[in-house]
Amino acid sequence: MTTTRSIVDDPVPVRTKGELVDQRGRAELEFVRTITTASSGLRARVRRDLEASGVLPAVVTDIAATRAAADPIAEASASYRFSSAARRWTRTVTTPRATAAFERRRSVLEPLAVPASASVTEADGKTAPRYWNYEFHGTTGGWDGHEQMGFVHHELVYHYLLTKVYGGNGDIFAQRAAFARDAPAETYTDIVDLGCGTGQYTLKLAEAYPGASITGVDLSRAELTYAARRAEDAGATVEFRRAPAEDTGLPDASADLVTSFILLHEMPPHAVRAVFAEAFRLLRPGGHVHFADVGRYDRRPAYQAWNDDWDAEHGNEPWWRTSATLDLVEVAEQAGFVDVEQFELAPGFHPMGTTARKPSIQE
Ligand SMILES: C[S@@+](CC[C@H](N)C(=O)[O-])C[C@H]1O[C@@H](n2cnc3c(N)ncnc32)[C@H](O)[C@@H]1O
Repeated sequence: MTTTRSIVDDPVPVRTKGELVDQRGRAELEFVRTITTASSGLRARVRRDLEASGVLPAVVTDIAATRAAADPIAEASASYRFSSAARRWTRTVTTPRATAAFERRRSVLEPLAVPASASVTEADGKTAPRYWNYEFHGTTGGWDGHEQMGFVHHELVYHYLLTKVYGGNGDIFAQRAAFARDAPAETYTDIVDLGCGTGQYTLKLAEAYPGASITGVDLSRAELTYAARRAEDAGATVEFRRAPAEDTGLPDASADLVTSFILLHEMPPHAVRAVFAEAFRLLRPGGHVHFADVGRYDRRPAYQAWNDDWDAEHGNEPWWRTSATLDLVEVAEQAGFVDVEQFELAPGFHPMGTTARKPSIQE
């Protein structure tokens, strides 16, 4: 069953280290931001044209057919052509410009990027699956394409550039805090955050469950390095572990909450199923799985589904479409979970939550 609840209530004030890059770096990033914002405005006209055309279905059950009907109408509009070119351009230039800005100020920024102690555990004998090496979001060189990619992405791309583009209920940072608080139990003792990246969601979990022992798992050395630094700066104790989410090497029945925030859409369907199986293995009976990921196309307003799919196709998101059409309720049930619930964080917005329970031994 899918429900909608509004749990996003506290947009987080953002402070950014992005201001420390040189003037050229700030100008280049601000230009990208201005183009992004301007093209989003033009997209509103595309939406109006598409909704007026009558080609969008009430419910998107076949995204390929929806695209085939709607794309020619969108392509006829100058707003679409400009905004599409702008979006493709921003995807191409953002990481190279942010990385170059970091390099020009390396002496100032690097001391802010690395943890004081070596605090990332390497899981023995685990290798990265091939799909992980893809340049997601146009990330030049992939997640580990630069040894400080965690800092570059977190501080220069997301906080400096993108946060000002999002706002209100679209604030993806506030959504992490809200989703962390929304796990079914009041307290947890052992939490595993899969695909933790730079620890944005992990640290929200640490705030929401102060007594819990938390492990953040990711495959990216660069993301984990900055996650460890951020945890140090926040005074949070988190174990960061480099391992695949679908094969963490952590002990059986060692967690009471296994969670993730926007990991699943970066995986092919077989890996998503493997992650649910791994979560089931890691949980004690009665424990919860709590995953946030992209909204299903058949639950999104048709224009949003069309726009998500266009963005995924042109924005280096090879698994978004399969993720947005995969029935995670069925996947969770096949992995053995019960009480599976799917919900939207706020009406019309993604990510969408999937929450379920590992049955107790008596069940
Ligand atoms: C979009 S980021 C999300 C990071 C974080 N959860 C957050 O809320 O900011 C996705 C992360 O998943 C990681 N990832 C992707 N596939 C993975 C896998 N199979 N195992 C572990 N981490 C993976 C990537 O390295 C990346 O850091």
